[in-house]
Amino acid sequence: MTVAVIMGGVSSEHDVSLASGGGIAEAAESLGHQVIRLVIGRDGSWTTNGTPGLDAALAALRACDVAVPAMHGEGGEDGTIQGFLELLGVNYVGSGVAASAISLDKHATKAVLATHGIPVAPGITLRGEALVNAGTDPDLAGVQLKEAGIPYPVFVKPASGGSSFGVTRVTETAGLAPAIALAAELDEQVLIEQEMIGREIDLSVIELPDGSIEVGPALEIHSDPSQPFFNAEAKYGSAATEFVVPAPVDPELAERLRSTAVNVFKSLGCKGLARVDFFVPADGEPVVNELNTFPGFTPASQYPRMWAATGLTYADVVNVLLATAVA
Ligand code: DAL
Ligand code: MG
Repeated sequence: MTVAVIMGGVSSEHDVSLASGGGIAEAAESLGHQVIRLVIGRDGSWTTNGTPGLDAALAALRACDVAVPAMHGEGGEDGTIQGFLELLGVNYVGSGVAASAISLDKHATKAVLATHGIPVAPGITLRGEALVNAGTDPDLAGVQLKEAGIPYPVFVKPASGGSSFGVTRVTETAGLAPAIALAAELDEQVLIEQEMIGREIDLSVIELPDGSIEVGPALEIHSDPSQPFFNAEAKYGSAATEFVVPAPVDPELAERLRSTAVNVFKSLGCKGLARVDFFVPADGEPVVNELNTFPGFTPASQYPRMWAATGLTYADVVNVLLATAVA
């Protein structure tokens, strides 16, 4: 097949996407496919196998059998590329327009999951004038958190961010306004969520060509203890972060996580793949932190690492994704 791998993009996760897309392109070549590399610059410009311009990109997309939007965040994991590919009539890997758009927006995701009875972290969302005011008034958001009954520590995050860019852990009211202003630089909506105390566990979901859904073994994150949380530094810049896969979970918890991950995938109408991230308190229900419709896909990322624990290589996973997309 001819496979067009789209990577880069305008989001803050541009570099992560280049690593994800580069890995997928190499794997597709190793599987014998002809690969076209479409790179979207930080400025939104397109380059197709080194040729600049949208015309070359359109010609390549029209000629391919399947596209892989190996994109993270805004302009790639949010339904925009998916809509573009839909209009061109191109098969592509992963979720469609609506599922991508809802899943990238953490506020919308939580609203959908809550209607399906899936536990999410308590929080508030700021937008518009309320967001502007909370980013400058040192007390405003603190009052709202108090009214909502949300204790510190809290996490302040851009609603549609990724890789923890723009996320701050805040332990007292004085830290709120600067954290909100920082997140507001990246997004029009900002979430403030209660910190969930517990283990941080991810699950991978994959759709097979026959439409059935499989879930990989749980992966537990042991984040670099010198960082305040599993932030971008702990994710990409630290040798001290460890992933334990399969994570030691008792059969009851394993089943709970598995069924919830499937529920999340179906509730949001996802396709192809997703990584569902949980907080698991010592006693009580696992809480869904978020899901990623195109999770980090570098050879070192959680998603391929989880499948590796079942004996599937990185290229095997890419093979399944491509086969499902054209099925
Ligand atoms: N958003 C990053 C790439 C992740 O999900 O791993
Ligand atoms: Mg994410």
